[in-house]
Amino acid sequence: MTAPDQVEVALRAARLLPVLVLDDADHAIPVADALRDGGVRVIEVTCRTPAALDAIRRLRAERPEMLVGAGTVLSPELAAAVCDAGAHFVVSPGLNSRVVEYCQSRDCTVIPGVATPTEIERAMSHGLRIVKLFPAEVVGGVAMIEAVAGVYPHVDFVPTGGLRREHLRRYFATGRVAACGGGWMVKPDWIRAGHFDHVRDEVIASLAEITAVTS
Ligand code: 3PG
Repeated sequence: MTAPDQVEVALRAARLLPVLVLDDADHAIPVADALRDGGVRVIEVTCRTPAALDAIRRLRAERPEMLVGAGTVLSPELAAAVCDAGAHFVVSPGLNSRVVEYCQSRDCTVIPGVATPTEIERAMSHGLRIVKLFPAEVVGGVAMIEAVAGVYPHVDFVPTGGLRREHLRRYFATGRVAACGGGWMVKPDWIRAGHFDHVRDEVIASLAEITAVTS
């Protein structure tokens, strides 16, 4: 097994992976600043809106302290576009081997989604040690992680999908969570309304929940 890459180390240190659906690329910088002010220097920009690629480019150019991921990457072509835009890592809802192999060919960290033991094993066959459990709250969440933890001791999870602040303690108590992902920290309504302070405050409150079980 190779040494953990720097993205893995930074993601584990952040403990949270805010998943952003941006209508307007102009919002990327104030959201990133709010996340940083709350204590998290990582952001995933989903490629579900036309603003995504521009937002990734701006974040890389203007906020070098942030770890920038691209989400909802469903094809090698889109993986190429986000790598070219400067994404540090790629996230996908499912495990598409062509996306994984493309990212690995570019030395870009990839975190595919899994929902079953078969998919975890396929991720392991690609040499991956961190996977996204998606949609976490639908496919078993904490109970799923606890059930597979003993079988796959070298894989850690980024549960995402339906998580809220009140779920964090139980996920981190499994000891097998690299980070918890989701949109609860970066609600589109807050962003549209310019309530970036809500983003900062939710990150602070979420980190406090995690610290309660990990310190
Ligand atoms: C997504 O792709 O939008 C993420 O899985 C976030 O899901 P959430 O909004 O339920 O946190």
